[in-house]
Parts: sequence; structure tokens; C-alpha cells
Amino acid sequence: MKKGRKDNVRVSLRVFEGFAGYGGASFALRRLKRRGFLDYKTIGFSETDPKAIELYKTNFPRVKSLGDIKKIKVEKLPDFNLFTGGFPCQPFSTAGCREGEEDDRGTLFGEIIRICEAKRPQYIFLENVQGLTSGKLRPTFEKIMYELKRIGYDCQYRLINSKDYGIPQNRLRLWIFGTRGTLPDGFELTPPKKKLRRKLKDFLDEHPDESLYRTPQQMAHIHEIHHNDVFDVPEPLCYDYYNRKVRTDGICMTVTPPQHNVVRIVEPMVNGQERFRKLTIDEHYRLMGFRIDKRGREIKYPPNQTYSELGFRAGNGWDINLVTILLEHIFSQL
Ligand SMILES: C[S@@+](CC[C@H](N)C(=O)[O-])C[C@H]1O[C@@H](n2cnc3c(N)ncnc32)[C@H](O)[C@@H]1O
Repeated sequence: MKKGRKDNVRVSLRVFEGFAGYGGASFALRRLKRRGFLDYKTIGFSETDPKAIELYKTNFPRVKSLGDIKKIKVEKLPDFNLFTGGFPCQPFSTAGCREGEEDDRGTLFGEIIRICEAKRPQYIFLENVQGLTSGKLRPTFEKIMYELKRIGYDCQYRLINSKDYGIPQNRLRLWIFGTRGTLPDGFELTPPKKKLRRKLKDFLDEHPDESLYRTPQQMAHIHEIHHNDVFDVPEPLCYDYYNRKVRTDGICMTVTPPQHNVVRIVEPMVNGQERFRKLTIDEHYRLMGFRIDKRGREIKYPPNQTYSELGFRAGNGWDINLVTILLEHIFSQL
């Protein structure tokens, strides 16, 4: 790996952040830069959702917004040596209808190939859902890996779960890292696992808004349709809507956009009343790896975005704790 501008910095990156969302790659790179592990500059980010662009710009005001990746003219793009992108996962997700390439968003991968074939960045770092690697979508995944190889990248892919790296969220994602030429002998994308020291209860707000709690009538309805008993828990835990039971392991199910309507917190009863609620926005973002506490907050929200808009972004975002660990692990081996 080339020396950076500063002698003590081993890695120097110029980054194109594709499908940027809130900027998961940039948040992780910023952490690594602050730690003195690397130096980086984002040459631009590509994103189409105005609310995501606004959130990104609130946190990285100096990075140029390049808009729709399909409209980017490669001859006008400055050079970069790292392409990052969590290309849209809805067409591949088990939560979606899995139309794969038949869904318009499923072919956005072709834009990664178009841009990287022309600009030839040294590294590619991609993310998607586990569903892309299995069942009827497996051929699409194989095509993606074939295309990356065809344009000159030696890639490794792994399924990696956030809960194995310090965040109590069961979030299993596909990660792909590739380099032009050949990955070093023995290169391993999966970092050593870390013991989970903090549980879901450590990621919750002290005083969530009362509007997030279900009323006793709503609780009675949930018990009726889910065929379960009153929730009497010793500490705040996650209620798994899919499997209709309280998770007793202190780990949260996958954080998804609020319209999927699944993550719920069950708290100990107060005066014999159940306490059952949705996540607050800060809780969404803590579970995506952000530091938000009394000492400060790592992400700023634009003033006028709604619960759904901010929650949607978190549900589609990158766990920045994991991405920081992954990037450090990757670039330590190059
Ligand atoms: C899975 S999310 C990526 C999340 C991101 N890595 C983060 O950390 O928040 C995919 C993103 O691609 C964006 N997107 C969809 N179509 C796009 C296009 N044509 N050009 C650029 N971005 C697009 C979506 O709006 C969405 O925010």
C-alpha cells in the first residue's frame, strides 16, 4: 500500500461513494482518519433520494453531490482509487419481492461496472443483502462476480454479521472487496470476531417519547393476533415480530425501514402495565454503529426530516462500526 501524504499514515484514498445513503463509507473513513490510520478525500457521492442527499450534505457539506449514477459521465469524473457502494438491495432482499435483474434497481450494478471499467480505481468495496447469494438470485450474483473479474478485479466476498463485531444487531450482509491485479496471498476479508460487550439495553434512550408506546388496547390486540402472553421482562429486550417472540439474548433483530414495521422494544412493566414501543431515531442510528450520547453525536439530522425518512435511511444504511473494522482490517493487509 502506498504511503500517504503524512509519513505516519499508511493508506491514502480518493473515494467515489456510490449509492451513498447517509454516507456509511464516509463516516467510517472519517473515524479511521481521525485515528491516524489513513488519509482520504471523497471526490463525490452519487445518490438520487433528495432526503438522503440532504442528510449526507448535513454531515459532509464539502463533498460534491453527483446525483443519479446512471447520468454520470465518466470523462468528467476526477480520478479516485476506491469505489464504495451498497447498490440497492430491494430487488435482492428476502423482505422484497426478489425480482432481481427484472427490477430496474437490480441492474444498477451495471453502473458500477461502467464506472470502474473506465476509471480503473485500485479498490472496490461493495455491500448487498445475503439474499443475493442464494436461490434464484445466485446466477445474478455469479454474473456480478464474473463482471468484476472481467474488468480486472480480484474479489473476495463474505457474509458478515454486525452482532459479531460489537453492535447487538442481527444484521447479516454480503460484503465484497476487490483489488485490480491480485489480492495478497492469505488475504481474508472477515476480521476476527469481537465479544459482544454491550447489549440492546445499552443502546436505548433514557426517556423515549411516550408517543412511541403502544396503548393497553393495542397490546391486547397484538397478544390476540400473535397468540402470546403478557410481556413481563427483566430488562429491555427486542420483540421479534416475524417469529412472534421476545428475544432473550439482548440482540436486536435486523433494523429495517419503519414501513416494514418490525423492530419493537419490550421494557419491564410499570405499575402492572406493559411497555412496548417503536425505536427512537437515535436508537436506530446507535444500532447502525453511530456514537450518540451525552458527550456528543456523530451524525446530525437535517431539521425537517420525519421519523419515517430518518428511520428509512438507517434501515437501508451501513453499520459504520462494522465498516470501520472492515476497512481497517482490509487495508492492514495490503
Ligand atoms: C442500500 S442503500 C445504500 C446505503 C449506504 N451505503 C449508507 O451507508 O447509507 C442504496 C442507495 O442507493 C440509492 N440509489 C438508488 N438508485 C440510485 C441511482 N440511480 N443513483 C445513485 N443512487 C441510487 C438509494 O436512494 C439508496 O439510498
